[in-house]
Parts: sequence; structure tokens; C-alpha cells
Amino acid sequence: MAWTSHPVLSFQGVVRAPGDKSCSHRALMFAGLADGTSEISGLLEGQDVINTALAMAALGATVEQTGPGKWMVSGVGEAGLRSPAGDIDFGNSGTGSRLMIGLMAGYPLTARLVGDASLSKRPMNRVLKPLERMGARFDHDGGGMLPLTLHGSAALSAIDFEPEQASAQVKSCILLAGLNANGTTTVTESRPTRDHTEKMLRGFGVKLSTRPAGGTRQTVSIEGGQTLTPVDTVIPGDPSSTAFLIAGALISPSGGVVVENVMSNETRDGFFQAAAMMGAGLGAEEIGDAAGERLVDLQAASASLKGRAIPERLVASMIDEFPILSVLAAFAEGETVVTGAEELRVKESDRIAAVVAMMRVNGVEVEERADGFVVQGCGGPPPGGGLVETHHDHRIAMSALVMGTATQKPVSIDDPGMIATSYPDFMAHMEQLGADIRAG
Ligand code: S3P
Repeated sequence: MAWTSHPVLSFQGVVRAPGDKSCSHRALMFAGLADGTSEISGLLEGQDVINTALAMAALGATVEQTGPGKWMVSGVGEAGLRSPAGDIDFGNSGTGSRLMIGLMAGYPLTARLVGDASLSKRPMNRVLKPLERMGARFDHDGGGMLPLTLHGSAALSAIDFEPEQASAQVKSCILLAGLNANGTTTVTESRPTRDHTEKMLRGFGVKLSTRPAGGTRQTVSIEGGQTLTPVDTVIPGDPSSTAFLIAGALISPSGGVVVENVMSNETRDGFFQAAAMMGAGLGAEEIGDAAGERLVDLQAASASLKGRAIPERLVASMIDEFPILSVLAAFAEGETVVTGAEELRVKESDRIAAVVAMMRVNGVEVEERADGFVVQGCGGPPPGGGLVETHHDHRIAMSALVMGTATQKPVSIDDPGMIATSYPDFMAHMEQLGADIRAG
């Protein structure tokens, strides 16, 4: 059913950021491997993360919700992961599936892995090929996509691997397989991607090293055969979800938003840097740390934005934020150019095509490129009035609804259902800040 975001005159208030999705997945996985019981609080209870919790339980961990956002996990420890009784369903989640494939590959188990229509179209060869080199086997129909059956091995061999894409999912998958391989596994990336796997594994007592490898390249190494020690951990707030609320403040005629408890990590802050380059005056107040990450309260107000060429060095650190960046670009004066972002083609939807369609249906001029897009900003509120096809992509849905808070005419989406995969409280937070979003 369609939902519509009606323009509002102000967008103001204070909201606490939801738990970070990347950290939530990892906390459940690592606690599920550890030798003992971990307590996690502030977990994001989005469907993607719940699917990871169910997967760890199916593989032998005890995973229990003890309160809102609070989870107790007793890991498998020495016993290791075991074959699940049925299929493991990762739903919509690329992160859940790709990281778990690496985690499972180092155990002598067999598991059939499935996902929803979007995930079943996403490329898995980027992780299957290196894992085959390490000694895991996969049965699939030849296309390298889900559904597939994984045959893990207790005798994986370490590899030195250079992924073709700058991808934290690929890096993490191989490092997690390396945790149970013989020897030292290394992953050398062309540009640093989000480092939550490395940071959180260290928190669980695992030794890894990260060193520069020339230019923007860096190598992460992990020695096989290490055990994880349980920890009590607090998940920091999600900067990617925060970006939607900050954008809402920037485009509003009377915007003033504070998002509390946001993780400040340089591998995740590209959107905020890009917004600042476009003229946003963002305030950040340090409030402490959680799970080894710095936390800030982020503040934004209405801004008169200018189009910019987004530097390619920012792409990895804002890979999930291009749909909401396009919304800022639509309100800005002048041209915003995105290049070097071809990975957007294989996200929950083809995000370049979906962004281009979202712009056009709302009266914004845009050019599609193989590796990005160029938006001609309206220098104020774009016309709006469009029905945006979300292609079951949560970030397209949320971007369109934020856009509709300040366009000339309302903006609709075909289906809000997928928003719950990453940000179940999105509608409540938007309403709290003054948005007018209704069914129909
Ligand atoms: C993620 C990595 C990114 C990102 C995704 C979360 C992670 O994917 O888009 O939402 O938690 O490792 P890629 O590794 O495919 O860039």
C-alpha cells in the first residue's frame, strides 16, 4: 500500500539514534561464537539483525531477548557451530548473509542458505570464490547467488586476498573464515572500508593487525585458531539512520534537529562530510564512547545548500547514504556529481537507477551514469508530487519520505514495509520531529 509524506513547515526536535546495524549483526555473531555468555544492549531490532540472531541460534548458540534492545547470548565456544536443522533465511540482508557465510565456512557443517527476492539477486561470488580457495564448497545453480548450500570445513587454509571491490562485507567474510583457518589470513583493500569487524573482534579478545599497504591500500591480518572471550557491550547509534533525520533538518524551511548517541567513525562519516561541503553547518558534541567507538550528539538546522562534486575518496565511507545525498542535491543550488560509486548497482536495489527514477518522478533533472548520477538542483523545494518505486529498498523508501517533508507537493512511496529491516522506529521518529506521513 502507498504511503505519502506531506510537506511540513518545520522539522524539529531531539531523537536518540537507533543501534547501528553493522555493529548489531557483528555483536550477535561474535557473542554467538564466544566461550561463555555476553550481554548486548542497544541492539537494533530490525528484521535484518533478527535474522542474524535466528541464524546463530540455528547454529547452536543460545540467543535470548531479555528486554527492549537487551540480548543475552551464550556462545558455542569450543564445541563450534553445528549444522542447522532447516534452511537459514537471511531475508533482505547482504551483511547478515555474507558475514555468516565466512563465519560458517570454518566449521564442518552443511547449511542451505536462502534470502528474499532482492537478496537472491545479489552477487555472492565475491565471497564464494575466495572461500573456495580456502577449502569451503558451495552448491548453487551456477549463478553464484542464493539459494545455495554451504559445506564448511574444519581444515580451511589461510589465504592472502585482494577483493575487487572496496567492501566491508567481503573483507569481514574472509577475516571471519580466517578466524578458523590454518595460518594467517590477510585481506588487502584498495581503500579502507568500515572497520567494525576489526574493532569488535578486538573487543572479544581476538588479535588482528592493520597496516598501510601503499597509497590508500591497507592490509588486515588475522591468525587462525583464536577463541573469543565473552563481553558485555553497548551498541553505538547508527550514523546511516541518523543521516535521514539530519537531511530532514537541512531541507526544512524551519529545521532544528539533534540526534543523540551517534557513532562517530571515520569509515562511516562521508555523508556528513559531503553535507558540510554542500553548506550544512553541523554541530557535534562528544558524549563518550561505546564498544570502542566515539559517540556524539549531532545537530543540524535549515541550510542553503550548494551542489558539489562528491570526492571519490568519500564513497566507501558513505556507501549507504547516496539515496539521501540525492535528496540534499535536489534542494541544492547547482549540480551535484557522484562518480566512482558503481557498487550502488548491487545494493538492496540498483540504487543508481532507483535514485534517478526518484528524482525524475518528483520533477528533478538528473543524468544516470554507469558509476553514479548528476543531479541538477532546484535551488529550493523541488516540485515533488511523485510516486516513488522503492524496489523493496529501505533506504530508497526513507529517502523519498524525507524528501516529501519539504517538496512543493507530497511525495509517495509504493510500500513502506522494508523500512523495518534497518530502522523500525523511522516513522515514529519522523512523526516526533514533525513529519506528516500517512497511508494512502
Ligand atoms: C556493511 C557494508 C556495506 C554496506 C552495508 C553494511 C557492513 O556493504 O553497504 O549496508 O556492515 O559490513 P558492502 O561491503 O557491500 O559495501
